[in-house]
Amino acid sequence: MQIAGRLMKVFLTRRIPQEGMKILSATGVCEVSQWDSDEPAPRAELLKGVQGAHGLLCMLSDKIDAEVLDAAGPNLKVISTFSVGYDHLAMDEIKKRGIRVGYTPDVLTDATAELAVALLLSTARRLPEGVEEVKNGGWSSWKPLWLCGHGLSDSTVGIIGLGRIGMAIAQRLKPFGVKRVLYSGRTAKPYAAEVNGEFVPLDTLLSDSDFIVVSCSLTPQTQGLCDKAFFSKMKKSAIFVNISRGAVVNQEDLYEALKNGQIAAAGLDVTTPEPLPTNHPLLTLKNCGEERNHELRRDVPLYDCRHAFKMCFLSPVLFHAVVIPHLGSATYSTRGVMSALAAQNLVNGLQGADMPSELTV
Ligand code: NDP
Ligand code: DGY
Repeated sequence: MQIAGRLMKVFLTRRIPQEGMKILSATGVCEVSQWDSDEPAPRAELLKGVQGAHGLLCMLSDKIDAEVLDAAGPNLKVISTFSVGYDHLAMDEIKKRGIRVGYTPDVLTDATAELAVALLLSTARRLPEGVEEVKNGGWSSWKPLWLCGHGLSDSTVGIIGLGRIGMAIAQRLKPFGVKRVLYSGRTAKPYAAEVNGEFVPLDTLLSDSDFIVVSCSLTPQTQGLCDKAFFSKMKKSAIFVNISRGAVVNQEDLYEALKNGQIAAAGLDVTTPEPLPTNHPLLTLKNCGEERNHELRRDVPLYDCRHAFKMCFLSPVLFHAVVIPHLGSATYSTRGVMSALAAQNLVNGLQGADMPSELTV
């Protein structure tokens, strides 16, 4: 990878796992410079580091827009993103300049689907609250209704965006005894037959699902898709899970929906912004349901047991959000493979060869 005897300049916006570094150094012909940190390069450093680069290896948190491309200048031939999502790349600008793009589909599908299932179960069965109660002394005894949640058995699951990850989520959820798998998107998918998936209008998915998982890509069409109207069509007992991108959700509307008991709970692997500020209202919802339930019990005279019992059953007791820090693909092996794939995409792109995973939208 040399231009007239000169090494090709490659800029990495972050430290990456060694699998990728080995590939870059094995070629022996690219000069690698790097933002040598596990934290994102500040914008000014990104703009500086990319100057004159032939190749750029970036993360989903780096916004690659006209400003970055201008800073890079005409040398830039390849962008390789360490992600399958590419909403952070200004594709129109990139295509206009004839720059090739590599990304990391498939290799993270299993890890992300697994995490989605873990998040769904944690949210629906209230694991974070339970762990907290054990630590803070809230565990007084076994109680019939304490920390009850919702199970998957006999349920209807709705998946928004039955792509690679959406399908892998459906495959993993089916064995939990899920009765129906609904999905929505732009087109019906023949492979959905494997999970008896039913392609339905979004409104049907919203009204019929007990669990809704968002696994579509972030596009102008999906941005803000999950808004007030969306949540108002869901069942009050439904659990909402998002593993796609934070911007698919209107978070203010989600907060209101949770606070008002419009939906039962939310599990979010992705938020806007990332990281979510620690004082964000969504993080205050944790025990609202429990408090309401306690209040209810205090209000009801002790002798009116039947009424109290009925009210406890009728009162929704979730109203919480489980928020985790974008962990979808976070297994050691997956990140290693992503690193290797991102590096190989970059190297092949610079050599004018086929990339293992070239983005061709
Ligand atoms: P795919 O391209 O295989 O799937 C994307 C899906 O989005 C397609 O099935 C598509 O369905 C759907 N979609 C696109 N537009 C719409 C729309 N307007 N309405 C509904 N659905 C739509 O990608 P992957 O499954 O590999 O990844 C999906 C996304 O997951 C990534 O783009 C990324 O943002 C996110 N992700 C998050 C991770 C995490 O760590 N939390 C890890 C990996 C990915 P159709 O063709 O019918 O429109
Ligand atoms: C992606 O690849 O798009 C994820 O969000 C991180 O693995």
